Amino acid sequence: MPRNVNALVLLSNDHRAVEELFGRLRNPKHVNRGVNRGATIDRLIQELSVHAEIEEEILYPAVRRNVDGGRRLANHAEEEHQQVKAMLDELAQMDPDSREAEELIEELHQSVSSHVAEQEGPDGLFEQLRASMDEESLQELGPQITEAKVARTVKTPVPEDDEGVKPRPIDVGGRMFGGRR
Ligand SMILES: [Fe+2]
Repeated sequence: MPRNVNALVLLSNDHRAVEELFGRLRNPKHVNRGVNRGATIDRLIQELSVHAEIEEEILYPAVRRNVDGGRRLANHAEEEHQQVKAMLDELAQMDPDSREAEELIEELHQSVSSHVAEQEGPDGLFEQLRASMDEESLQELGPQITEAKVARTVKTPVPEDDEGVKPRPIDVGGRMFGGRR
C-alpha cells in the first residue's frame, strides 16, 4: 500500500503555489496586462481561502493537541487568518488593474510571507509539529488534507502566464491541481 504524504509536505506545496502566483502578479513586466491579471488574482484568492480553511480544520486542531503552548500558537494563527480573509474579500471587489489592487497585493504578500516563515522557518510551527508528532501521525493527516482540498477546489480555468508559460501542476497527494487550461 502506498504511504500517505505527510500533511506538512502538502501544506508546503500550497505555499509554493501561492508564492508562484504572487511572483506573477508582482512581476513589473506583467503588472498591467489586463485579462490574465484578473484570472490570476481569482486563483490567488481561491488558493489562499482554501489553504486557510484547511489549516483551521485540520492543522490547528493538531497543533492544539500536540504542541506545547499549541493553543496560544493556534489562536494567534487564526487571528492572522482573519486579517488575510478580510484582505481577500476586499481584493475580490477591486478592479484587478487598479493601483489599489496592486497595493493590497503587496500588503497581502507581506502577510503571507510572514505566515510561511512562521510555519516553515527555523523553530516554526512545522518544526514543532515534527518534534511532537511521529511521522505516521503526520502521514495520517495527509489524506484528510487532500480530501478537504478536493471538496473545496472549484474548477476554475487557470490562466496562462502572460509569456505563455503554463503554470506548473501541483501534486497534492497524488491528485494534480493547477496546470489546467
Ligand atoms: Fe500555511
